[in-house]
Amino acid sequence: MSISSKPETLILQPTYFLLLLLIFNVEAKCRKGCDLALASYYIWEGSNLTYISNIFKQKIPEILLFNPQVSSPDTIRSGTRINVPFSCECLNGDFLGHTFEYKTEVGDTYVKVAGLAFANLTTQYWIQRVNNYEPTQIPDFALINVTINCSCGDRHVSKDYGLFTTYPLRPGENLSSVVNETDLPADLLQRFNPDSDFGAGSGIVFLPAKGE
Ligand SMILES: *[C@@H]1O[C@H](CO)[C@@H](O)[C@H](O)[C@H]1NC(C)=O
Ligand SMILES: *[C@@H]1O[C@H](CO)[C@@H](O)[C@H](O)[C@H]1NC(C)=O
Ligand SMILES: *[C@@H]1O[C@H](CO)[C@@H](O)[C@H](O)[C@H]1NC(C)=O
Ligand SMILES: *[C@@H]1O[C@H](CO)[C@@H](O)[C@H](O)[C@H]1NC(C)=O
Ligand SMILES: *[C@@H]1O[C@H](CO)[C@@H](O)[C@H](O)[C@H]1NC(C)=O
Ligand SMILES: *[C@@H]1O[C@H](CO)[C@@H](O)[C@H](O)[C@H]1NC(C)=O
Repeated sequence: MSISSKPETLILQPTYFLLLLLIFNVEAKCRKGCDLALASYYIWEGSNLTYISNIFKQKIPEILLFNPQVSSPDTIRSGTRINVPFSCECLNGDFLGHTFEYKTEVGDTYVKVAGLAFANLTTQYWIQRVNNYEPTQIPDFALINVTINCSCGDRHVSKDYGLFTTYPLRPGENLSSVVNETDLPADLLQRFNPDSDFGAGSGIVFLPAKGE
């Protein structure tokens, strides 16, 4: 009896684990991601496709596939947006995102990397969380992690959409301007983003994109 008790304990462990999950409801928040999500990159004065391609480690022709509106890659207009494809993963079983490696430039801060290089697709706090460097001591030309959130949809809201754009709201934008831009019903956008009123002029929302 005492001999068999040891392997038995080992076999029971997964069951205990499941039991603990049930009792404390610590179930994983995500199980898997999706191959494709889009990042809506606001083209600031001085940025260009080469730069964006480097930031997202994505080839220019691949980016252009998702931007039929761009007629000439050499003259993308600042003040417009471009969709950049990336893969959306379940990170730490906790949330959907993708972590990019970014090489810092002289004078970079987390604020600048979030707001300029990554065009507010993330925030300084969200970058800070995944890096060991103190915000005041980021070395030049060092690789840092930059995590961008994404969505693979929500079947409780609608099963019709599987591709989502991570869309940073800009000052002056609101639900009606986003409706105008996306041609999607306001209530659908609202239901996919229950925590956003779209009018804060900042923060990200997830917009259903036209699938391929
Ligand atoms: C592209 O943008 C980057 C970042 O602003 C800049 O350093 C580079 O000179 C630009 N390249 C061209 C061809 O404009
Ligand atoms: C990021 O957000 C700040 C604050 O709203 C804004 O001033 C800046 O222009 C934004 N950057 C981009 C690239 O949209
Ligand atoms: C990304 O998602 C996490 C988990 O939902 C959230 O805490 C965080 O604020 C989000 N980051 C951004 C930049 O919105
Ligand atoms: C980036 O993330 C990886 C994986 O979590 C970690 O090992 C590495 O130390 C992080 N980089 C910095 C600069 O903190
Ligand atoms: C929403 O934004 C548009 C364009 O920026 C603006 O014309 C409109 O007045 C705004 N609507 C509200 C209710 O703020
Ligand atoms: C709606 O979109 C059109 C064309 O994209 C634009 O000319 C118009 O100003 C937009 N209206 C609002 C309220 O954003």
